[in-house]
Amino acid sequence: MTPAAATAARPATIPAARTPASPRSGVRVAGRGAALPARRVTNHDLVRHLDTSDSWIVERSGIRERRWAGPDESTRTLATAAARAALADAGLAAAAVDVVLVATTTPDTPVPSTASQVAADLGIGAGALDLNAACAGFVYGVTVSAGLAAAGAARTVLLIGAETMTRIVDPADRSTAVLFADGAGALVLIADPDLGPAPAGPAPPVPGLVASDLVNDPAGVDLLVVPAGGSARPTTAATVAAGEHHLRMDGREVFRRAVRAVEGSIGRTLERAGCGPDDVTLFVPHQANARIVDAVLARTGLDPARTSSTIDRYGNTSAASIPLALADAAAAGTVADGDLVLMCGFGAGMTVGTALWRWGTPTTTPGDLST
Ligand code: ACO
Repeated sequence: MTPAAATAARPATIPAARTPASPRSGVRVAGRGAALPARRVTNHDLVRHLDTSDSWIVERSGIRERRWAGPDESTRTLATAAARAALADAGLAAAAVDVVLVATTTPDTPVPSTASQVAADLGIGAGALDLNAACAGFVYGVTVSAGLAAAGAARTVLLIGAETMTRIVDPADRSTAVLFADGAGALVLIADPDLGPAPAGPAPPVPGLVASDLVNDPAGVDLLVVPAGGSARPTTAATVAAGEHHLRMDGREVFRRAVRAVEGSIGRTLERAGCGPDDVTLFVPHQANARIVDAVLARTGLDPARTSSTIDRYGNTSAASIPLALADAAAAGTVADGDLVLMCGFGAGMTVGTALWRWGTPTTTPGDLST
Protein backbone atom coordinates (compact mmCIF):
# COMPACT_ATOMS: atom_id res chain seq x y z
CA MET A 1 0.00 0.00 0.00
CA THR A 2 1.38 3.45 -0.85
CA PRO A 3 1.71 5.98 2.02
CA ALA A 4 -1.10 8.04 0.46
CA ALA A 5 -3.41 5.01 0.26
CA ALA A 6 -2.57 4.09 3.85
CA THR A 7 -3.54 7.59 4.95
CA ALA A 8 -6.83 7.44 3.14
CA ALA A 9 -7.62 3.98 4.53
CA ARG A 10 -7.02 4.89 8.18
CA PRO A 11 -8.85 7.90 9.55
CA ALA A 12 -6.89 9.93 12.08
CA THR A 13 -7.69 9.48 15.73
CA ILE A 14 -7.28 12.31 18.20
CA PRO A 15 -5.63 11.04 21.38
CA ALA A 16 -7.27 11.99 24.64
CA ALA A 17 -5.46 14.44 26.90
CA ARG A 18 -3.06 12.68 29.23
CA THR A 19 -2.46 13.24 32.90
CA PRO A 20 0.28 15.85 33.23
CA ALA A 21 3.58 14.47 34.42
CA SER A 22 4.78 15.68 37.81
CA PRO A 23 8.28 17.04 38.44
CA ARG A 24 9.11 13.63 39.93
CA SER A 25 8.05 11.86 36.77
CA GLY A 26 10.78 10.23 34.80
CA VAL A 27 10.80 9.34 31.12
CA ARG A 28 11.32 5.75 30.07
CA VAL A 29 12.47 4.22 26.79
CA ALA A 30 9.59 1.89 25.97
CA GLY A 31 10.73 0.90 22.49
CA ARG A 32 13.38 1.40 19.86
CA GLY A 33 13.47 0.79 16.15
CA ALA A 34 15.69 1.19 13.12
CA ALA A 35 15.21 1.20 9.37
CA LEU A 36 17.91 1.02 6.75
CA PRO A 37 17.64 0.96 2.98
CA ALA A 38 18.30 -2.45 1.47
CA ARG A 39 20.96 -1.15 -0.91
CA ARG A 40 24.46 -1.61 0.51
CA VAL A 41 27.20 0.46 -1.13
CA THR A 42 30.79 -0.45 -0.33
CA ASN A 43 33.86 1.73 -0.83
CA HIS A 44 34.81 -0.61 -3.67
CA ASP A 45 31.48 0.19 -5.36
CA LEU A 46 32.27 3.93 -5.12
CA VAL A 47 35.72 3.54 -6.62
CA ARG A 48 34.07 2.57 -9.92
CA HIS A 49 32.57 6.07 -10.31
CA LEU A 50 34.70 8.38 -8.16
CA ASP A 51 38.36 9.33 -8.02
CA THR A 52 38.83 7.80 -4.57
CA SER A 53 40.03 4.59 -2.91
CA ASP A 54 38.95 2.21 -0.18
CA SER A 55 42.10 3.00 1.81
CA TRP A 56 41.54 6.81 1.63
CA ILE A 57 37.94 6.49 2.84
CA VAL A 58 38.77 4.01 5.63
CA GLU A 59 41.81 5.97 6.86
CA ARG A 60 40.14 9.41 6.73
CA SER A 61 36.67 8.46 7.96
CA GLY A 62 36.44 4.84 9.17
CA ILE A 63 33.63 4.14 6.68
CA ARG A 64 33.66 0.80 4.81
CA GLU A 65 30.09 0.70 3.53
CA ARG A 66 26.81 2.59 3.81
CA ARG A 67 23.15 2.28 2.81
CA TRP A 68 21.58 4.33 0.01
CA ALA A 69 17.85 4.76 -0.45
CA GLY A 70 16.29 3.28 -3.56
CA PRO A 71 13.77 5.08 -5.77
CA ASP A 72 10.80 3.98 -3.62
CA GLU A 73 12.46 4.97 -0.34
CA SER A 74 12.60 8.41 1.24
CA THR A 75 12.97 10.06 4.62
CA ARG A 76 9.23 9.52 5.16
CA THR A 77 9.26 5.80 4.36
CA LEU A 78 12.37 5.15 6.48
CA ALA A 79 10.98 7.22 9.38
CA THR A 80 7.65 5.39 9.28
CA ALA A 81 9.38 1.99 9.16
CA ALA A 82 11.58 2.89 12.17
CA ALA A 83 8.51 4.23 14.00
CA ARG A 84 6.54 1.03 13.40
CA ALA A 85 9.50 -1.04 14.66
CA ALA A 86 9.80 1.09 17.81
CA LEU A 87 6.05 0.88 18.52
CA ALA A 88 6.14 -2.91 18.03
CA ASP A 89 9.14 -3.12 20.38
CA ALA A 90 7.16 -1.11 22.96
CA GLY A 91 4.05 -3.23 22.44
CA LEU A 92 2.08 -0.03 21.91
CA ALA A 93 -0.66 0.91 19.48
CA ALA A 94 0.17 3.98 17.39
CA ALA A 95 -2.88 5.70 18.90
CA ALA A 96 -0.98 5.91 22.21
CA VAL A 97 1.40 8.47 20.74
CA ASP A 98 0.79 12.08 21.79
CA VAL A 99 3.52 13.75 19.71
CA VAL A 100 5.54 12.62 16.69
CA LEU A 101 8.86 14.48 16.54
CA VAL A 102 11.13 13.94 13.53
CA ALA A 103 14.70 15.26 13.48
CA THR A 104 15.71 15.66 9.85
CA THR A 105 17.48 17.94 7.38
CA THR A 106 16.15 16.04 4.38
CA PRO A 107 12.33 16.12 4.63
CA ASP A 108 10.38 14.58 1.73
CA THR A 109 8.84 18.00 1.08
CA PRO A 110 9.32 21.48 2.57
CA VAL A 111 5.60 21.36 3.44
CA PRO A 112 4.08 19.39 5.12
CA SER A 113 6.55 18.18 7.72
CA THR A 114 7.86 14.61 7.68
CA ALA A 115 6.33 14.18 11.16
CA SER A 116 2.87 14.99 9.75
CA GLN A 117 3.45 12.45 6.98
CA VAL A 118 4.57 9.78 9.45
CA ALA A 119 1.53 10.46 11.66
CA ALA A 120 -0.67 10.14 8.58
CA ASP A 121 1.00 6.85 7.63
CA LEU A 122 0.39 5.58 11.17
CA GLY A 123 -3.21 6.80 10.98
CA ILE A 124 -2.99 8.92 14.13
CA GLY A 125 -3.92 12.48 15.04
CA ALA A 126 -0.97 13.06 17.37
CA GLY A 127 0.83 16.39 17.39
CA ALA A 128 3.55 16.40 14.75
CA LEU A 129 6.62 18.53 14.18
CA ASP A 130 9.99 18.40 12.47
CA LEU A 131 13.15 19.66 14.06
CA ASN A 132 16.18 20.72 12.01
CA ALA A 133 19.40 20.89 13.99
CA ALA A 134 21.35 19.00 11.30
CA CYS A 135 23.37 16.08 12.67
CA ALA A 136 22.67 17.23 16.24
CA GLY A 137 18.93 16.99 15.56
CA PHE A 138 18.25 13.77 17.43
CA VAL A 139 19.96 15.02 20.61
CA TYR A 140 17.99 18.27 20.40
CA GLY A 141 14.92 16.04 19.97
CA VAL A 142 15.76 14.07 23.13
CA THR A 143 15.88 17.31 25.11
CA VAL A 144 12.67 18.67 23.55
CA SER A 145 10.90 15.34 24.22
CA ALA A 146 11.95 15.42 27.87
CA GLY A 147 10.65 18.99 28.06
CA LEU A 148 7.28 18.04 26.54
CA ALA A 149 6.98 15.25 29.11
CA ALA A 150 8.03 17.48 32.02
CA ALA A 151 5.51 20.15 30.96
CA GLY A 152 2.73 17.57 30.86
CA ALA A 153 2.22 18.39 27.17
CA ALA A 154 2.82 14.80 26.06
CA ARG A 155 3.01 11.49 27.85
CA THR A 156 4.17 9.42 24.89
CA VAL A 157 6.58 10.88 22.35
CA LEU A 158 7.61 9.05 19.19
CA LEU A 159 11.05 10.51 18.53
CA ILE A 160 12.59 9.75 15.14
CA GLY A 161 15.86 10.69 13.47
CA ALA A 162 15.59 10.10 9.71
CA GLU A 163 17.56 11.16 6.67
CA THR A 164 18.11 10.51 3.01
CA MET A 165 21.34 12.49 2.73
CA THR A 166 21.99 11.00 -0.71
CA ARG A 167 19.18 13.22 -2.04
CA ILE A 168 21.13 16.41 -1.25
CA VAL A 169 24.67 15.16 -1.84
CA ASP A 170 26.30 15.58 -5.24
CA PRO A 171 27.14 11.99 -6.27
CA ALA A 172 30.11 13.34 -8.24
CA ASP A 173 31.60 15.24 -5.26
CA ARG A 174 34.08 12.81 -3.73
CA SER A 175 34.53 14.96 -0.62
CA THR A 176 30.91 14.39 0.49
CA ALA A 177 29.57 11.44 -1.56
CA VAL A 178 31.78 8.93 0.26
CA LEU A 179 30.64 10.11 3.72
CA PHE A 180 26.89 10.65 3.78
CA ALA A 181 24.18 7.98 3.75
CA ASP A 182 20.55 7.15 4.55
CA GLY A 183 18.62 5.57 7.42
CA ALA A 184 16.29 6.15 10.36
CA GLY A 185 16.08 5.31 14.04
CA ALA A 186 13.27 5.83 16.53
CA LEU A 187 12.52 5.75 20.24
CA VAL A 188 9.19 5.57 22.03
CA LEU A 189 9.53 7.68 25.16
CA ILE A 190 6.91 7.44 27.91
CA ALA A 191 6.63 9.76 30.88
CA ASP A 192 6.18 7.90 34.14
CA PRO A 193 2.92 8.53 35.90
CA ASP A 194 3.17 10.72 39.01
CA LEU A 195 5.49 8.97 41.43
CA GLY A 196 3.98 10.84 44.40
CA PRO A 197 5.90 12.36 47.30
CA ALA A 198 9.58 11.47 47.52
CA PRO A 199 10.19 8.45 49.79
CA ALA A 200 12.30 8.82 52.93
CA GLY A 201 15.97 8.09 52.47
CA PRO A 202 17.97 8.19 49.26
CA ALA A 203 15.60 8.42 46.28
CA PRO A 204 16.16 5.93 43.48
CA PRO A 205 17.51 7.59 40.34
CA VAL A 206 14.76 8.89 38.06
CA PRO A 207 14.99 7.68 34.45
CA GLY A 208 15.14 10.27 31.69
CA LEU A 209 17.15 13.39 30.94
CA VAL A 210 19.78 14.08 33.59
CA ALA A 211 21.51 17.04 31.96
CA SER A 212 21.92 18.57 28.53
CA ASP A 213 23.83 21.19 26.60
CA LEU A 214 22.54 22.76 23.37
CA VAL A 215 24.81 25.28 21.66
CA ASN A 216 25.60 26.71 18.23
CA ASP A 217 28.93 28.01 16.95
CA PRO A 218 28.05 31.14 14.93
CA ALA A 219 31.47 31.23 13.27
CA GLY A 220 30.67 27.87 11.69
CA VAL A 221 27.36 28.85 10.10
CA ASP A 222 28.69 28.72 6.51
CA LEU A 223 30.80 25.55 6.76
CA LEU A 224 28.06 23.15 5.69
CA VAL A 225 25.36 24.55 3.44
CA VAL A 226 22.88 23.80 0.69
CA PRO A 227 23.05 27.22 -1.00
CA ALA A 228 19.74 27.21 -2.90
CA GLY A 229 16.23 25.82 -2.63
CA GLY A 230 15.11 27.95 0.31
CA SER A 231 13.55 31.39 0.63
CA ALA A 232 16.78 33.31 0.00
CA ARG A 233 17.53 31.54 -3.28
CA PRO A 234 14.51 29.61 -4.50
CA THR A 235 15.19 26.79 -6.92
CA THR A 236 15.57 27.92 -10.54
CA ALA A 237 17.07 26.33 -13.63
CA ALA A 238 20.17 28.43 -12.94
CA THR A 239 20.59 27.24 -9.33
CA VAL A 240 20.22 23.63 -10.44
CA ALA A 241 22.67 24.12 -13.31
CA ALA A 242 25.16 25.54 -10.80
CA GLY A 243 24.61 22.57 -8.46
CA GLU A 244 23.46 24.85 -5.66
CA HIS A 245 20.86 22.32 -4.52
CA HIS A 246 23.71 20.10 -3.33
CA LEU A 247 25.46 20.04 0.04
CA ARG A 248 28.78 21.91 0.24
CA MET A 249 31.14 21.30 3.11
CA ASP A 250 34.46 22.62 4.37
CA GLY A 251 35.28 19.25 5.90
CA ARG A 252 38.66 20.18 7.36
CA GLU A 253 37.23 23.17 9.26
CA VAL A 254 34.16 21.20 10.39
CA PHE A 255 36.54 18.56 11.76
CA ARG A 256 38.67 21.11 13.63
CA ARG A 257 35.73 22.95 15.18
CA ALA A 258 33.70 19.81 15.93
CA VAL A 259 36.37 18.22 18.11
CA ARG A 260 36.74 21.33 20.28
CA ALA A 261 32.99 22.06 20.45
CA VAL A 262 32.05 18.48 21.30
CA GLU A 263 34.69 18.31 24.04
CA GLY A 264 33.30 21.51 25.58
CA SER A 265 29.67 20.40 25.34
CA ILE A 266 30.36 17.00 26.93
CA GLY A 267 32.34 18.68 29.70
CA ARG A 268 29.50 21.10 30.53
CA THR A 269 26.89 18.31 30.48
CA LEU A 270 28.85 16.04 32.82
CA GLU A 271 29.57 18.98 35.13
CA ARG A 272 25.85 19.89 35.29
CA ALA A 273 25.07 16.28 36.16
CA GLY A 274 27.84 16.09 38.74
CA CYS A 275 29.34 13.13 36.87
CA GLY A 276 32.69 12.17 35.46
CA PRO A 277 33.55 10.22 32.29
CA ASP A 278 33.79 6.99 34.28
CA ASP A 279 30.10 7.27 35.26
CA VAL A 280 29.04 6.98 31.62
CA THR A 281 27.97 3.42 30.75
CA LEU A 282 27.46 4.05 27.05
CA PHE A 283 28.69 6.90 24.87
CA VAL A 284 26.75 7.35 21.63
CA PRO A 285 28.46 10.01 19.52
CA HIS A 286 27.28 11.27 16.15
CA GLN A 287 28.79 8.93 13.57
CA ALA A 288 30.46 11.45 11.25
CA ASN A 289 34.04 10.31 11.28
CA ALA A 290 35.89 7.72 13.37
CA ARG A 291 38.82 10.12 13.74
CA ILE A 292 36.59 12.81 15.27
CA VAL A 293 35.29 10.24 17.78
CA ASP A 294 38.85 9.10 18.58
CA ALA A 295 39.94 12.70 19.18
CA VAL A 296 36.92 13.34 21.43
CA LEU A 297 37.63 10.17 23.44
CA ALA A 298 41.25 11.22 23.94
CA ARG A 299 40.23 14.70 25.13
CA THR A 300 37.32 13.74 27.40
CA GLY A 301 38.58 10.52 29.01
CA LEU A 302 35.44 8.63 27.92
CA ASP A 303 36.02 4.88 27.52
CA PRO A 304 36.44 3.66 23.90
CA ALA A 305 35.18 0.22 25.00
CA ARG A 306 31.87 1.80 26.05
CA THR A 307 31.47 3.81 22.86
CA SER A 308 28.94 2.84 20.24
CA SER A 309 30.25 2.72 16.67
CA THR A 310 28.37 2.08 13.43
CA ILE A 311 30.34 4.40 11.13
CA ASP A 312 32.04 1.47 9.34
CA ARG A 313 28.67 -0.03 8.31
CA TYR A 314 26.28 2.91 7.94
CA GLY A 315 28.44 6.00 7.21
CA ASN A 316 27.20 9.44 8.25
CA THR A 317 23.40 9.36 8.38
CA SER A 318 23.18 12.82 10.01
CA ALA A 319 20.22 13.02 12.44
CA ALA A 320 19.66 9.25 12.12
CA SER A 321 23.16 8.27 13.21
CA ILE A 322 22.67 8.50 16.99
CA PRO A 323 19.36 6.58 17.18
CA LEU A 324 20.82 3.96 14.82
CA ALA A 325 23.94 3.61 16.97
CA LEU A 326 21.80 3.53 20.11
CA ALA A 327 19.53 0.84 18.67
CA ASP A 328 22.63 -1.13 17.68
CA ALA A 329 24.12 -0.91 21.19
CA ALA A 330 20.83 -1.67 22.92
CA ALA A 331 20.24 -4.69 20.67
CA ALA A 332 23.70 -5.95 21.67
CA GLY A 333 22.63 -5.72 25.32
CA THR A 334 25.15 -3.05 26.31
CA VAL A 335 22.66 -0.87 28.16
CA ALA A 336 20.52 -1.71 31.20
CA ASP A 337 18.11 0.10 33.50
CA GLY A 338 19.89 2.67 35.64
CA ASP A 339 22.77 3.12 33.18
CA LEU A 340 23.87 6.56 32.06
CA VAL A 341 23.86 7.04 28.30
CA LEU A 342 25.69 10.05 26.88
CA MET A 343 24.61 11.19 23.41
CA CYS A 344 26.42 13.94 21.53
CA GLY A 345 25.79 15.31 18.05
CA PHE A 346 27.20 18.14 15.94
CA GLY A 347 26.38 19.41 12.51
CA ALA A 348 25.57 22.24 10.15
CA GLY A 349 25.01 25.51 11.93
CA MET A 350 27.30 24.55 13.66
CA THR A 351 24.95 22.97 16.12
CA VAL A 352 26.23 20.92 19.01
CA GLY A 353 23.97 19.02 21.39
CA THR A 354 24.72 16.70 24.29
CA ALA A 355 22.23 14.79 26.43
CA LEU A 356 22.99 12.60 29.44
CA TRP A 357 20.12 10.13 29.80
CA ARG A 358 19.38 7.75 32.67
CA TRP A 359 18.21 4.59 30.91
CA GLY A 360 14.99 3.10 32.21
CA THR A 361 12.46 0.81 30.59
CA PRO A 362 8.81 0.57 31.70
CA THR A 363 8.38 -1.42 34.91
CA THR A 364 4.73 -2.17 34.20
CA THR A 365 3.04 -2.98 30.94
CA PRO A 366 2.06 0.31 29.34
CA GLY A 367 -1.22 -1.24 28.24
CA ASP A 368 -3.27 1.66 29.62
CA LEU A 369 -1.76 3.80 26.88
CA SER A 370 -3.13 1.72 24.06
CA THR A 371 -6.76 2.54 24.82
N1 ACO B 1 39.12 10.33 -2.00
C1 ACO B 1 40.38 10.69 -2.21
N2 ACO B 1 40.85 11.94 -1.95
C2 ACO B 1 39.97 12.83 -1.46
C3 ACO B 1 38.63 12.51 -1.22
C4 ACO B 1 38.20 11.20 -1.52
N3 ACO B 1 36.94 10.78 -1.32
N4 ACO B 1 38.01 13.60 -0.73
C5 ACO B 1 38.92 14.57 -0.65
N5 ACO B 1 40.13 14.11 -1.10
C6 ACO B 1 41.38 14.81 -1.19
C7 ACO B 1 41.23 16.31 -1.14
O1 ACO B 1 40.96 16.80 -2.43
C8 ACO B 1 42.59 16.73 -0.63
O2 ACO B 1 43.47 16.74 -1.71
P1 ACO B 1 44.62 17.90 -1.82
O3 ACO B 1 45.45 17.74 -0.58
O4 ACO B 1 45.30 17.55 -3.08
O5 ACO B 1 43.86 19.19 -1.84
C9 ACO B 1 43.01 15.59 0.28
O6 ACO B 1 42.16 14.50 -0.03
C10 ACO B 1 42.87 15.91 1.76
O7 ACO B 1 41.60 16.52 1.96
P2 ACO B 1 41.17 17.00 3.39
O8 ACO B 1 39.82 17.64 3.27
O9 ACO B 1 42.23 17.77 4.04
O10 ACO B 1 41.05 15.61 4.14
P3 ACO B 1 40.75 15.35 5.64
O11 ACO B 1 41.82 14.55 6.25
O12 ACO B 1 40.33 16.60 6.36
O13 ACO B 1 39.47 14.39 5.56
C11 ACO B 1 37.09 14.57 5.73
C12 ACO B 1 38.32 14.86 4.90
C13 ACO B 1 36.91 13.07 5.82
C14 ACO B 1 35.88 15.20 5.05
C15 ACO B 1 37.29 15.16 7.13
O14 ACO B 1 37.73 16.50 7.04
C16 ACO B 1 36.02 15.13 7.94
O15 ACO B 1 35.49 14.09 8.27
N6 ACO B 1 35.51 16.31 8.34
C17 ACO B 1 34.30 16.40 9.12
C18 ACO B 1 33.13 16.28 8.24
C19 ACO B 1 31.88 16.10 9.02
O16 ACO B 1 31.88 15.60 10.12
N7 ACO B 1 30.80 16.50 8.40
C20 ACO B 1 29.53 16.21 8.89
C21 ACO B 1 28.99 17.19 9.82
S1 ACO B 1 27.41 16.63 10.18
C22 ACO B 1 26.19 17.47 9.30
O17 ACO B 1 25.67 18.45 9.74
C23 ACO B 1 25.70 16.99 7.99
